[in-house]
Amino acid sequence: MKALLEISYLIGSITFIIGLKMMGNAKTARQGNRIAAVGMTVAILGTIIFHEVVSPIIYGLIITAIVLGTIAGWTTAKTVQMTKIPELVSMFNGTGGACAALIGLSEFGKNQGNISALSFIMAGLVIGSISFSGSIIAYLKLSGKLDKPIRLPSYNLINNLFFMAVVAFAVYMVASGTSSVVMLWLLFAAALTYGVLFVLPIGGADMPVVISLLNSFTGLAAAFGGFLYDNKVMLTGGILVGSAGTLLTLAMCKAMNRPLSNVIFGAFGEGSAGAVGSSDGQTKGSIKDISVSDLAVLLNYSKSVVVVPGYGLAVAQAQHIVHELEKLLEERGVEVKYAIHPVAGRMPGHMNVLLAESNVEYEKLVEMEDINPLFEQTDVVLVIGANDVVNPAAKSDPTSPIYGMPILEVDKAKHVIMNKRGMSVGYAGIDNLLFYDPKCSMFFGDAKKVLTELVAEIKQL
Ligand code: TAP
Repeated sequence: MKALLEISYLIGSITFIIGLKMMGNAKTARQGNRIAAVGMTVAILGTIIFHEVVSPIIYGLIITAIVLGTIAGWTTAKTVQMTKIPELVSMFNGTGGACAALIGLSEFGKNQGNISALSFIMAGLVIGSISFSGSIIAYLKLSGKLDKPIRLPSYNLINNLFFMAVVAFAVYMVASGTSSVVMLWLLFAAALTYGVLFVLPIGGADMPVVISLLNSFTGLAAAFGGFLYDNKVMLTGGILVGSAGTLLTLAMCKAMNRPLSNVIFGAFGEGSAGAVGSSDGQTKGSIKDISVSDLAVLLNYSKSVVVVPGYGLAVAQAQHIVHELEKLLEERGVEVKYAIHPVAGRMPGHMNVLLAESNVEYEKLVEMEDINPLFEQTDVVLVIGANDVVNPAAKSDPTSPIYGMPILEVDKAKHVIMNKRGMSVGYAGIDNLLFYDPKCSMFFGDAKKVLTELVAEIKQL
């Protein structure tokens, strides 16, 4: 039985690694996800069937938990809107942290006197609790229920001292060999409080980075559970989540050209008007707009068009009509490519997933470093619902909160068309000087609606 249990864990561990590897490519990502899910199912069934029976009641509890968890997970994942995925990830991540914390609470009493087991329990409890409460705050911020960062005076100092006190408390509990349940619950409450204090001051725009960081915390907490139970599948899963979350966090920071410390302690994305100017539209020159018929002619007689998708494309669910526009233009001899900024949208790979949904060929998506040198030879750049990722202030204005973030240099193209509904700012909360560039024309309206009109107009030509 023990050998079969270990084999089921080995199968789980191997499928996690293969699945994660396959998720690195859009073509194999779905299959990779399925393979990892099958491996997880094998590990769960292996535990139910081959683990020694502690108490028959346990089976009832396990089945109830599986049924409730499956219903909740399945229905939320099936019904969630694409733009709400980061919130869902945050909630799922929070439940992972809560599980790690619950393991700590339930195992504390059973492992008295065992210093190494208690160390793993305390580490899992503290990190899991921080991840749980931090993820709840991140969820509230992303869903707009808590939109302003809340900062106590000297919050950095207070937070750091509080964190050190939580760690010292946990170390003391292990070293003193205490069996006090009151102290255990105090530690739990202190770690939960730290999670809240940690995320509250961070601006809304930085939540995807924070969620990825909390994700890596959850992985670490699960890995401590793996050490505690000597459970290889928990260990492998935890380490994979922990390292993948850390790498993703660093990749996002690199794409925004900001150190992680600046994300955690900085003040980005608070909805300020920013350094570019007020949003009254009076101090920065005039804007011009373009009609559907003029744009149809411009695109129809271009040689090369680059589409820049952004968050607004996802909001409008305009991915299918964009693909139709692309096919129509290609039939008329226009070369069409998509420029993908690493932090366009609201989650890593957002634009890739969205365009894959409408069957845009993956080869047509060109990464920022590869497309930037091509803009000079591009006739028309069509920016659809993107704003911050094409904002020249990131290069030209040292006082701008996005200064230093690499951008898509669309202003080098012959014509720039900006599609958005009005003059509203993007996630960073700052105005965009590109709108006032003489090369730029605004194409106002909901992306899906106006692109549908544009496609109809081109068909008439
Ligand atoms: P944003 O700068 O957020 O701009 C989106 C624009 O879409 C808005 O200005 C909005 O203007 C427009 N819009 C909204 N609904 C629309 C609709 N139905 N039709 C047409 N336009 C619509 O988007 P972006 O350029 O993709 O930049 C992403 C931002 O998120 C960056 O600041 C980035 O740093 C941040 N961020 C992203 C990530 C990841 S991983 N993706 C992580 C951290 C931070 P109107 O309201 O006027 O239409």
